[in-house]
Amino acid sequence: MENNDQNTNTGNPNYPDQSGITNPNYLKPNRDGANESLWQSFHSELSSQNPDLSLGRVYDALIIGAGITGLTTALLLQKQGLNCIVAEAHNVGFGTTGGTTAHINTFADTTYDETEKAFDAASAKLFATAINEAVAIINEHVQVYRIDCDFEWKPGYVYAEDSKQAKELDSLYQSALKVGVKVKETQEVPTPVSYEKAVVFDNQAQFHPLKYITGLQKEFVALGGTVLENTRVEDVETREEIHYAITNVKDIAAKNVIYATHLPIGGINPQHFLNAPYRSYVIAVKLRDEKYPDALIYDLQEPYHYFRTHVIDGQKYLIVGGHDHKSGHNDPEKSFRDLENYVREHYHVESVDYKWSAQYYVSADGLPYIGELPLAAKGIYAATGFNGNGMILGTISAKVISDMILGKESEFADLFDPARVKPLAGFNEIVKENADVAYKFIADRLSIDDIKSLNEIENGSGAVVEYKDKKVAIYKDNAGSVHALNPVCTHAKCIVDWNNSEKSWDCPCHGARFDIDGNVLTGPARKNLEKITVD
Ligand code: FES
Repeated sequence: MENNDQNTNTGNPNYPDQSGITNPNYLKPNRDGANESLWQSFHSELSSQNPDLSLGRVYDALIIGAGITGLTTALLLQKQGLNCIVAEAHNVGFGTTGGTTAHINTFADTTYDETEKAFDAASAKLFATAINEAVAIINEHVQVYRIDCDFEWKPGYVYAEDSKQAKELDSLYQSALKVGVKVKETQEVPTPVSYEKAVVFDNQAQFHPLKYITGLQKEFVALGGTVLENTRVEDVETREEIHYAITNVKDIAAKNVIYATHLPIGGINPQHFLNAPYRSYVIAVKLRDEKYPDALIYDLQEPYHYFRTHVIDGQKYLIVGGHDHKSGHNDPEKSFRDLENYVREHYHVESVDYKWSAQYYVSADGLPYIGELPLAAKGIYAATGFNGNGMILGTISAKVISDMILGKESEFADLFDPARVKPLAGFNEIVKENADVAYKFIADRLSIDDIKSLNEIENGSGAVVEYKDKKVAIYKDNAGSVHALNPVCTHAKCIVDWNNSEKSWDCPCHGARFDIDGNVLTGPARKNLEKITVD
C-alpha cells in the first residue's frame, strides 16, 4: 500500500496544464470533453465523405451518431444491400464510444437476477441470449473484417469484500448459471485487494474501441455507405413516409432514421424521462511493478470499481473506472481524486497518465430501450439505456434495429421495446429520477450561487452566477477572458452545471452538455446555449 503523490502525472504531456484542458484539440474537439482518453492517440486515416445530395436522393436509412451503435447498425444494413448514410455532429467516436473502458462481458450492470425479478425468468434468459449474441457479433466482425483493434479474450473476475457483498455475488452467480452463462467460483483473483469470495466468467473480452469502430466504418464505406462528420441533425420532418433530416450542412432524405445518440435529439419524448444520465470516471496509470492484471476485474462496492490492462504503443496501462454518479450531481474532480486515491491504496502507481469521464444512461427498469421510437413517425428508431454496458448493448441494438428494418423477426424486439409498459416493482428508480429532474428544474432556478463579483471565479473555471439580476453561466479562460452564456438548457429549460474537469456545461436533467462557448457536445439539446455579452 503506497501513496506517492509526488509521482503524480510526471512526464506526461497530456496531463492538465494550468488551463485544465488536456485534449489539445478541445476547441475543435475529437471527444466530448477536455480530458483526453487513452484511445485518442489513435488517428483514423478515414475522412468524412461529401456526397452530392442535390439530386433528391432518398437513402434507405439515415443513422444519426457514429459511435459503436451507429456504425454497427450502418454496417449490418449496408451488408444486406441497403443504402445508408451516417450523420455525426462531430467526428467518429466523439461520444461515449471514445470514452468507454471497452469491457466486453457476458453479464451486465443489471444482473440476471434483477432482470428476473423485474420481468420474469424467460426475460432474464433472453437478456443473456442477447448479450451472448452481441459478444459473438463483435468477435465475428473482428475476425471476418480482420479489424486490428487489440481484441483479446480475458477471464472476468467479480469479487466480494464482505458478507453483504458475498450475498450479492451469490445471487449474481446463481442467476448467471440459471440463464446458461459460463461462470464458476474461484479462489484466485489477480487483485491486491483482500476479498471473501469470488467468481470468474469465461470468455470476456476487451478491445480498443476507436480502432474497432474505425474498422466497422472502413467496411461500411467499402460497401458503398457514406459517413458525414461535422453534420448536426437539427430536426427531422416526415412527409409521405419519407423522413427529411435538416442539418447544418445539407438536408438528407431517408426511409428510416435511427437515433444512435443515446436519447433522441430535440423535442420531448417519453425516452427523455425514462433514462437518467450518469457519468463514469476512468484513470489509466503506469505501475512501478509488473502487477498489471491479465484479466477484467470488478468489485461489488457501490458504485463499483472495474479494472483491466491495455498496451498502447508498447506501454502498458492499468485502466481503472468507477465513482460513477448522476450527471451534474457531484463534483467531478472529487470523483477523480477518490478514484486515484483508491488505486494508489492498492497498486504501486508510478504515474497517472490519463484521466477522463464519459456519460451513459440508466433506464427506468434496468433493460435498454431499443426499437421504434414511441410517439414518433413510423420508421424512426432509437437505442438507449445501456447502463455501463455500451459495447455489448450498442451492438445488440444494431442487430435488433437492422432486423426490424429488414423485415426480419427479432426475438429481442418485445423485451427491449421502448414502448413496453411494465410494473416498476423492484426498479422504481424512474420515480426517483423524475422527482430529481423536477427538483432540478425548479430548485436550481431559486438557488443560483450568489457570486457578487466575477473576480470570484478563478481562471480556467466556471460557475452559474447572478450578474446584473440575471443568471449567467460564466467561464473564465486561462487569460481571464470571460465566456458568458445563458445557463438555461435549450432542451427543456433546466439550468446547466459547470463540470470543471471536462470544462463543459452539463445539464442534470437529460444529460445535454455544452462546451465553454455553448456549443452542443451531447444531445438531447440540438441548439447551442445562447451567448451573452458581459460588460
Ligand atoms: Fe433536457 Fe437539459 S437535457 S433540459
